[in-house]
Amino acid sequence: MTVVSAPGKVYLFGEHAVVYGEPAVPCAIEKRATVRVEPRDDGSVRVEAQDLTLNGFAVEYDEQDTQPDVDVPPSLIDAATGYVDAAVEQAREAADAPDAGFDISVDSEIPLGAGLGSSAAVVVAGIDAATRALGEPLDHRELAERAFQAEYTVQDGEASRADTFCSTMGGAVRVAGDDCRQLATPELPFVVGFDGGSGDTRQLVAGVRSLRDRYEFAAETVEAIGDIVRRGEELLAGADPDEEASAELIGELGELMDINHGLLSALGVSARSLDSMVWAAREAGADGAKLTGAGGGGCIVALDATSETETSLQYTPDCEQAFRAQLATDGVRVEESA
Ligand code: PMV
Repeated sequence: MTVVSAPGKVYLFGEHAVVYGEPAVPCAIEKRATVRVEPRDDGSVRVEAQDLTLNGFAVEYDEQDTQPDVDVPPSLIDAATGYVDAAVEQAREAADAPDAGFDISVDSEIPLGAGLGSSAAVVVAGIDAATRALGEPLDHRELAERAFQAEYTVQDGEASRADTFCSTMGGAVRVAGDDCRQLATPELPFVVGFDGGSGDTRQLVAGVRSLRDRYEFAAETVEAIGDIVRRGEELLAGADPDEEASAELIGELGELMDINHGLLSALGVSARSLDSMVWAAREAGADGAKLTGAGGGGCIVALDATSETETSLQYTPDCEQAFRAQLATDGVRVEESA
């Protein structure tokens, strides 16, 4: 049995704009997806997926079954199985083993489609576990690239390298097009609020693309998000990664997050529940708050070194879960090898 985990992430800045080549800074957080893989002799793939949503469900299917027989919304099944299938294809190609079969089980602490990079974590851990199980482990750069290709296929080309690179490498990263780098940053006091829902990444990205095509000022809004990220990067570059982040740095980053949220809202990807959590965080004294990921529903991320934001979110009707999220310094990690 080969067992590999990979972290989810929050976007400090830059989601959506990163799809058009602007930079983004996602940060890996200590919420992980774990994939267990055992090769099978008969060439088929069997998948068991637990806890992919907060409620949890299990799916057993093989590649011949087009519709697994379970009582959960088809979109969640597609999400769970589509990403795992794409990861298997990448692993088979990388290991030059087109007929390899696997028993796969997926466990995830990351809610699906909620902006915390659940699909990237599953794909990264899945490709790494499957290639290791075949005796052909990949280096991090190739793993991140293959994980991106898997997401790109499943999301019909509406994907950047940000999620998959961040989940592979861990820590904070900076992604602009195919230029992907690790950033040394101090620990930041992230607080996450989750509304219990999810957004459709493909649809939300298509919505921004349409606005950007039709309105010059929407295209400028996307560029303005890029400017926020560039400013944020300068702030981070001036900080000592081994020291605690100063109140001044957190205050300045927070201000940029507030502006970033406003611009994402202007591009139509926020939601009433996300705005309500963002305002609850700001009123509780957070240094800044924004939606994270594709939007439409799911999660917000705030900066607050005190416990006020987490407590306030716990009493916010639109918030189902609030938690403090630590930067995950480990990216993809082998938990057990065969
Ligand atoms: O919601 P998530 O975790 O799938 O993040 C999507 C981020 C986007 O920038 C909207 C799309 C992408 O692939 O970068």
